[in-house]
Amino acid sequence: MSKTNVIFHQEEKVFHLNNGKVSYLIQIEEDGVVSHLYFGKSFESYSNHKKYPRRDRGFSGNVPGNSERAYSKDTLPQEFSSHGSMDYRIPSSIIRRESGSNLHDFRYFDYRIEDGKPELKGLPQVYTESDEEAKTLVLTLKDRDQEIYVDLIYTIYSDRPTITRSTKVRNLTANSISIEKIASMQMDLTNSGIYDEVISLPGAHVQERQLQREKINAGIKTFESRRGTTSHQMNSFIALVNHDTNEFSGPAIGLNFVYSGNHSFEIEKDQIDQLRVLVGINDYNFSWQLNSKESFQTPEVIMVYSDSGLNQMSDNYHHLLRERVARGIHKDRQRPILVNNWEATYFDFTSEKIKKIVDEAAKLGIEMFVLDDGWFGHRDNDDSSLGDWFEYKEKLSDGLKGVSDYVHQKGLKFGLWFEPEMISIDSKLYEQHPDYLMQEPGRSPSASRDQHLLDMGRKEVREAVETQIRKIFDTVNIDYVKWDMNRSMSDAYSIILNAQNQGETAHRYLLGVYELLENLTRDYPEILWEGCSGGGGRFDTGFLYYMPQSWTSDNTDAVERMNIQYSTSLAYPISSMTAHVSASPNHQTGRSTSLKTRGDVAMSGVFGYELDLEQLNAAEKEEIAEQVQSYQEIRPLVQYGDFIRLKSPYKGNNVAWMFVSQDQKEALLFLGRILTNAQAVFNEVKLAGLNKEFVYEDVETKEKYYGDELMTIGMYYPDFYGDYQTQMIHLRKI
Ligand code: GLA
Repeated sequence: MSKTNVIFHQEEKVFHLNNGKVSYLIQIEEDGVVSHLYFGKSFESYSNHKKYPRRDRGFSGNVPGNSERAYSKDTLPQEFSSHGSMDYRIPSSIIRRESGSNLHDFRYFDYRIEDGKPELKGLPQVYTESDEEAKTLVLTLKDRDQEIYVDLIYTIYSDRPTITRSTKVRNLTANSISIEKIASMQMDLTNSGIYDEVISLPGAHVQERQLQREKINAGIKTFESRRGTTSHQMNSFIALVNHDTNEFSGPAIGLNFVYSGNHSFEIEKDQIDQLRVLVGINDYNFSWQLNSKESFQTPEVIMVYSDSGLNQMSDNYHHLLRERVARGIHKDRQRPILVNNWEATYFDFTSEKIKKIVDEAAKLGIEMFVLDDGWFGHRDNDDSSLGDWFEYKEKLSDGLKGVSDYVHQKGLKFGLWFEPEMISIDSKLYEQHPDYLMQEPGRSPSASRDQHLLDMGRKEVREAVETQIRKIFDTVNIDYVKWDMNRSMSDAYSIILNAQNQGETAHRYLLGVYELLENLTRDYPEILWEGCSGGGGRFDTGFLYYMPQSWTSDNTDAVERMNIQYSTSLAYPISSMTAHVSASPNHQTGRSTSLKTRGDVAMSGVFGYELDLEQLNAAEKEEIAEQVQSYQEIRPLVQYGDFIRLKSPYKGNNVAWMFVSQDQKEALLFLGRILTNAQAVFNEVKLAGLNKEFVYEDVETKEKYYGDELMTIGMYYPDFYGDYQTQMIHLRKI
């Protein structure tokens, strides 16, 4: 383990966070203004030569209390900007006092350096297993006039090019203050020539996380969600890169927000081509009343630096999220191969139908059966029963316990679908507690899929759901839970909050959900939890803290899945991405693909099936049994090996990625070709991550290759015939 240190150079007033992988430099300038000096590749000694230069610029006024004309907050790169003192760039925070004033001017107050990492109470977070793993700098700023303090919390991890950041506001004034905006991190980069492009993950339902890369131009660019969740539309991750950065070379700074609600990533390129980057809870519809002596802790951001391209950045996220965000016994266990009845039956099933699917699954070697939506209340379609988490006896004549027992007798595990944050008007819960539905009284709320949100910020509402869920867990043997959320937030109003506190509703909702998740995952540690929100609408690092895997997308089309899984891997580990083989033609796109193609794509994630096994012919069943066996062999490699992207589906017709075991003795190559043409060119691919010295054998063909040559001269794609072709090549060291 290399030395991890936070050093304060007294004379230069410079903090240097360094772990042999990255360095981060912060300077206390004249009059206590805190500037950002550097984030990037690690170095040892700092001579103070990189102090920010000064220049008198027109219309960039001066630091309050200092008449030096060349000293301006308008251009100075800072760690946490103030509002109203001539820094015209986007502010890190807006804090309004009782007087109505939102002016503030934060200056250095003091600092402390601690071993390990302080806990962020009630929030998902990156954790440490021992204090040796990290060091934390808490840098405290104070408003020049008021007793308002801001703690900037930086944790640097040993042996990872990673720093986490969050902010805590403390109100020591006698009055309450209103936080209208508060960034978890701010970083001002002086050299926008290096970071001149940004990668983000916008999308839509059944089209999540579509890699987007664009030039950073002058002005403000925001990537955000206003939907109460991280959303399908914009994932809570961006990367700053150079136009030359590719998968294997060039600088990249990843910013991954550990939060599952409204977020915003703001980038401003200023008048002299510097960048300001802010990440935090979206200030849209947000405010937080902070009473005297109270504090507000923001969620944190995981910053990863790579000097060798995007794969290295992703690899660091994969390890960190697997090892120090995901928790519980399943985080490094092999995940079961499941069959889910959703696309097989939708709401139309009975105990008998389920048993038939389970019988088939058992014969094919599938390891878990998941009963999806429709088993509770009187739910026969999507317009009723959310909130009624008791079995639908008329539909399941054997009862839930009967089904679970049957599944277990057949040697499979049993999983169950829930959507705990929701209420249907047509439900017992609504009959009894219409006020649990989130809405402003007297104003009719917007329905979506005929359902509404519960106000999860209210304890009694959470308890009403929790009690029902616990009853099921305590009476039925459940091995897995799929936790869904099938709409975005609207009508954000909480009847238990005062007028001036209404801006807290969305964040309090999420804090309530986090508390419920914490209780249930703690008390039922054997259960494997999978997050879901109409597919991947809440695929984020916050949820990963409670659930080690998530349904990647409701889009199970193998071709579209290549794009989704490829770009999801930028920020999230393969062990978190579930992927299922579904029927052909595909239900979302109508496209037909072979069982092999569907299998290869799904086997590149946490594998399962989502089709009616009874409808398959003998040959298909045989192929599925073989797929199950192959996945069992490659499972540790796929779920816990290093993942490397080789050819992007966003750049052309050919896709390639691979998995390499930690000891490099085993690798799996995935090759995909989307569309065919009559005069096909011969495509080639160079492998990566292998050991140069090793000789590898193709497990199937027994062909031998040197690691060195595979990485240097590469290999040809198979001579594919037809559209949507894929191939998996499993290599083992001999
Ligand atoms: C969401 C999920 C699906 C399925 C349905 C059930 O859309 O993503 O997998 O569970 O809900 O209503």
